[in-house]
Amino acid sequence: MYVCLCKGITDTQIRDAVTDGACNIRDLRERLDVATQCCKCARDCKSIISEYRQSAAGSFAGSGQFVMA
Ligand code: FES
Repeated sequence: MYVCLCKGITDTQIRDAVTDGACNIRDLRERLDVATQCCKCARDCKSIISEYRQSAAGSFAGSGQFVMA
């Protein structure tokens, strides 16, 4: 699905960039040029980053490696 219509960037491309280390909207701008024109996609980009962080945190909790005693 297209997230940034101005630049033709899809959610898959954004997820790939986040998986590859992009951790905020500034990183996504530098890598994909999203949110540089009308900026209507900025909210969706931030949501994708948040989803990724939550799923990553869930996988850490599930592994039991970061459980505080
Ligand atoms: S939709 Fe992304 S900059 Fe316009």
